[in-house]
Amino acid sequence: MTGEAMTIPFFRPSIGVEEKEAVQRVLDSGWLTTGKVAREFEERFADYVGARHAVAVNSCTAALHLALEAYGVREGDAVLVPTMTFAATAEVVRYFGAHPVLVDCDPETLLMDPDATEAAAAKWSGGGRLKAMIPMHYGGQMCDMDRMADIAKRHKISLLEDAAHTLPAYYRSHSTAPWRSVGETSPMACFSFYANKCITTGEGGMLTTSDERIAERVRMMSLHGLSKNAWTRFEAKGSWYYEIVEAGFKYNLTDVAAAIGIAQLLKANELWRERQALAATYRELLADCDGLVETHPELEDRQSSWHLFPIKLNLSAMSIDRAQFIEEMKAAGITCSVHWMPLHLHPYYVREYGHRPEDFPQASSVWPRLVSLPIFPGMTREEVHYVARTVTAIATRHARQAVGV
Ligand SMILES: Cc1ncc(COP(=O)(O)O)c(C=O)c1O
Repeated sequence: MTGEAMTIPFFRPSIGVEEKEAVQRVLDSGWLTTGKVAREFEERFADYVGARHAVAVNSCTAALHLALEAYGVREGDAVLVPTMTFAATAEVVRYFGAHPVLVDCDPETLLMDPDATEAAAAKWSGGGRLKAMIPMHYGGQMCDMDRMADIAKRHKISLLEDAAHTLPAYYRSHSTAPWRSVGETSPMACFSFYANKCITTGEGGMLTTSDERIAERVRMMSLHGLSKNAWTRFEAKGSWYYEIVEAGFKYNLTDVAAAIGIAQLLKANELWRERQALAATYRELLADCDGLVETHPELEDRQSSWHLFPIKLNLSAMSIDRAQFIEEMKAAGITCSVHWMPLHLHPYYVREYGHRPEDFPQASSVWPRLVSLPIFPGMTREEVHYVARTVTAIATRHARQAVGV
């Protein structure tokens, strides 16, 4: 079919000698948990995204939880979240006994649709306060943050970005406006350093904010609600004394993980350039498949991190479904994924909120067509060509008729 066979995972982490040496230094230092290295990671990260403060935590989920806590979300409140997202964006709302109000996506970009967000905010009458909204930057392309900020302001709700997929990513209001980094476009943004993210610490996350009081609250709540964190308690001029001022959480990031994070952050631009080049190659190679496969758009006023490379299958022009397409990719040695089955179709959200597929028509109709192709720094030219050739071969073989191929 496509000549030589290859084995291509969905993702392969880029860990080099720098990460290994950095971890070794921390192991040799005798201080393994949160300390100087985590602080340095925070400072460098804040600098990188242009935020005033950054707090390192052990996952993006933890960051999202702490962000909602800092915004004062309470039981019975409501928070606008996209239906086209990962479990974490909405589950953190449920941690408070608050309600995620799901919002449909734009069928092209898969981003939380601003008009649907406006409509959901305007018609909210569920009883509790509409307290916050969490636009999520699908695949690394930022939402329309001007629109989101405007909706948040008019409805008097707090704005928080789920930036799990972005590092880096940029947004501008129009073609002559300056580019703004993720982390600069709202009061709080939450990042993920899970193994397959743009930079990784294995597991880890970061919350950035422009507000010093929020940063202090998040820092305190990330470590048991203590009045001082462990590092201050144990440093030479610090004291053994601390007070529990809130019932906090255990969300701190270790120095071992932070050491990997610093080494990764120093390469973030290089890793991004690789992702951009891979995405450009896929788009060029798959342009031939037009009519059977659509590639993901990058809007004019965005620069995506290209954490994901989703394609949409034109199933009406093909005699197979998405599951068979993924099976045939697997048989050719290529692991694909799907981002995502929307939240409103999952049993928990159907059971709790009675959602129906037709309540979110865009997400319901697009998700059966979605396939995420492998994309990761270190992926070779041969690998990306092989994946594109295989996609084209499978789609063409199962075309109902010759459509643009
Ligand atoms: C959109 C989104 N938000 C949040 C998360 C949670 O990140 P973490 O695994 O760091 O908690 C993920 C993880 O994949 C994600 O895709």
